[in-house]
Amino acid sequence: MTVQGDPTEVGTNTPAPEPPQQDLQRIWNRVVGRRAFLQRAGLASAAALPAGAMLASTASAETAADGAPTEGDFAILRFLCAAEIIESDLWEQYAEFGGQASSERPNDGRNHFYVAALQNLDGDMPQYISDNTDDEESHQAFINGYLRSKGQREVTLEPFRTLAPSPATGGGSRKRITNLKTLNVDTSWYLRYRAETNPDFGATFEQAVMIKGQPAIPVSDQETPPGDDAPVPVPSDAAHQRMQAIANSAGFHFAMIEQGGSSLYTTMALKATSLEVLRIVVAIGGVETNHFSLWHDKAGNAVSDPLAGVRDPQTGTFFPNLNSSGSEATQTNLILPEPCEFIPGLPRCSVVRPTIDKLAGAMAAVSGLTADGLFDGQSPAFFQFVSRLAREADAAVRGIR
Ligand SMILES: [Fe+2]
Ligand SMILES: [Fe+2]
Repeated sequence: MTVQGDPTEVGTNTPAPEPPQQDLQRIWNRVVGRRAFLQRAGLASAAALPAGAMLASTASAETAADGAPTEGDFAILRFLCAAEIIESDLWEQYAEFGGQASSERPNDGRNHFYVAALQNLDGDMPQYISDNTDDEESHQAFINGYLRSKGQREVTLEPFRTLAPSPATGGGSRKRITNLKTLNVDTSWYLRYRAETNPDFGATFEQAVMIKGQPAIPVSDQETPPGDDAPVPVPSDAAHQRMQAIANSAGFHFAMIEQGGSSLYTTMALKATSLEVLRIVVAIGGVETNHFSLWHDKAGNAVSDPLAGVRDPQTGTFFPNLNSSGSEATQTNLILPEPCEFIPGLPRCSVVRPTIDKLAGAMAAVSGLTADGLFDGQSPAFFQFVSRLAREADAAVRGIR
């Protein structure tokens, strides 16, 4: 199912994309708040107004705030909270199958075979998965707590917890919001962060690995017996190739999700008005980037010796050795972002990218996760609800406080 943005609203996808330079100018205009007053006053065009009307709008917008969050700030937080609930749901599935059981999370890591295959990427993968899950749960609980503390309604996606869990060992009986059984994992982030070009200026990137219609969690105990071990090199039989391909796909999906969070939070930060809300967005966003960096490193282990060469016998997903070409564009230990285009006329800079609405705003996030297959099986009401939150967040405009 496709998700359509409303082109009449500020900051959503538009039918005829603006040149990147104009997009960037639009962002900086927001940062200095040039259009904020008109937006909040519901006025369509500065040109249509006499000067006196503009000043009146400006004064009322500034004095009404006193540093308190604006409606736009709340819209940003509501969408981010929905995104965190979505993240929590997918990470909880990863943790229950492949995390590290502890007193705090006794149900984590219930599929021994999956855990072993993940540990071929890094022996600490189960711990990292459980910790990432903890972080997402804290993000959604905090943002909802903040909204509540300000007299705002909390965000819930519980009415959309309708998807059947995987029947494999570790799937449990709890219904899910997200679907990890047939993912199209966008792996273009791998090449994007190794490039000196920036998608905000129009650069595009190929897939590092083609992962289509691929499970990232075990989907059948018959296919992948949960008690098996996962030796390296990976045996050529169907069960071992299948389970390692599932674990490798999860490794790339972890990074895909978290780099998306890095871009989303950075983009939303440019729209926040209240300093307190900006603090929340920047502080949580930094942890999304922290996650991405970790998973970027682990994904590289699926496409280098000694693990490279796995092929899923059902989907055909293949994990080549990305070091074999000798190109820095794919070298697996070059995991820290390459300096790239950032602000025209200035030196290249190592930054999060993309950070424009069209590529990294809230509607872009919804569209990207939909294309990922994460919402396969969800209801039209789910898409309508999440898209509405996204449009409202994208429409937020930074004011001057
Ligand atoms: Fe998060
Ligand atoms: Fe995250």
